[in-house]
Amino acid sequence: MIVDDLHLVKDIVESCDYQRRHLFNAVIVALLSKAHAAGQRLAFSTDNAPPPLANRAHTWDICDFTPADYQAICSAYFDPAIARRLDFGEIHRFAPNLNAHQLRKASVWLSHELGADTARFIEYLTTHNLASNVEIEEVEPVDWNDLRGVDDVIEALEAKIALPLEDRVLAAELGLKPKRGVLLAGPPGTGKTTIGRALAHRLKSKFFLIDGTMIAGSANFYSSVNRVFEAAKRNAPAIVFIDDADVIFEGEHGERGLYRYLLTMLDGLESESAGRVCVMMTAMEASSLPAAILRSGRVELWLETRLPDEAARASIFRDKISCLPATIGAADVAVLAAASRGLTGADLKAAVEDGKLLFAHDKANGKQLKAPEQYFLAAIETIRRNRRTYTKKKRPQLTEALSIGFKAE
Ligand SMILES: Nc1ncnc2c1ncn2[C@@H]1O[C@H](COP(=O)(O)OP(=O)(O)OP(=O)(O)O)[C@@H](O)[C@H]1O
Ligand SMILES: [Mg+2]
Repeated sequence: MIVDDLHLVKDIVESCDYQRRHLFNAVIVALLSKAHAAGQRLAFSTDNAPPPLANRAHTWDICDFTPADYQAICSAYFDPAIARRLDFGEIHRFAPNLNAHQLRKASVWLSHELGADTARFIEYLTTHNLASNVEIEEVEPVDWNDLRGVDDVIEALEAKIALPLEDRVLAAELGLKPKRGVLLAGPPGTGKTTIGRALAHRLKSKFFLIDGTMIAGSANFYSSVNRVFEAAKRNAPAIVFIDDADVIFEGEHGERGLYRYLLTMLDGLESESAGRVCVMMTAMEASSLPAAILRSGRVELWLETRLPDEAARASIFRDKISCLPATIGAADVAVLAAASRGLTGADLKAAVEDGKLLFAHDKANGKQLKAPEQYFLAAIETIRRNRRTYTKKKRPQLTEALSIGFKAE
């Protein structure tokens, strides 16, 4: 019997608020005893053996991959003729920490390339998502140019974040560094996470994410955060994106560990990799972040996403409605923009989706169709009503297990 990824089971057990300590070890001891009594053998795979295993089991460590390991793994996926052309020593020097998944991905891609050689392989590693802790396929594909009414924010991101990270030649020539600390603040639904998603797609292996899924009160939270920073430093220049930093800090329940840690990391970054790792935090309000971080001068760039003005609202409606069939797509966007003052980009997106459903309902039931904007106006009104109802209610207390990852749309 093989138990794969034992450390994941351990993480889950230890993140539960269970009173009895060492529960996990007790289960392992019981399991080992049972297997022993039955004359059976168990095989475990894990990144760190818990004490009962370390004491009783034979252990084999898988060491860091050498150039020969790279060669052996890659050769399984392409023609031996390609393998002979590649200099695995050089590939290993360029990226010494690749795992087998990453090597396989790169090899499968290379096997379809004409003229595959070492330079092409390294080019693939540079441009693809091989080091980041984000599975890029799972991040909704977006471009920050799709956001309306925040041109100044986008311009600053292009010039001060993307350019120094992307243009290696110019960055080396002029000694450009991305900003050390960036704060992206703005009301809910104004595009902060979308900017993170766009950055993830744009910067690929240079993008690292810390979000609520990592906090969850888990015992190994600091080691997870530390792993992210270490990986970012190894891949510098890189960006660590801390989404909903205010919620993460709030979840600290008065314990000041995380932001002290962050302050140290920000300082450590400056000395260790010459400030080439940028930490970008998002928050609904700048003032909800610990004052120590804001006052310390570590945040060098302040950006603000805001509610879209009338022109931006019209533009968002135009983007989303004009591609629909004329019976609904001919809605007058100026009327909708005027009627939706005070709504966020996320609200407008929801209004379009809801308006489409109302229209589809009438159409499917053979009802007389209304003027197209009527459907969207009705949806806008419902959103306003909901907002009035919900803002009256007390904000619920956030629980530690709150998940605010990229996948939660
Ligand atoms: N200015 C905008 N233009 C176009 N679409 C927008 C704009 N602002 C937000 N949206 C859309 O609204 C949705 C929600 O935005 P997003 O999740 O990025 O907001 P957020 O600022 O991270 O909110 P929160 O503070 O609640 O996490 C996304 O689908 C996004 O595309
Ligand atoms: Mg968000």
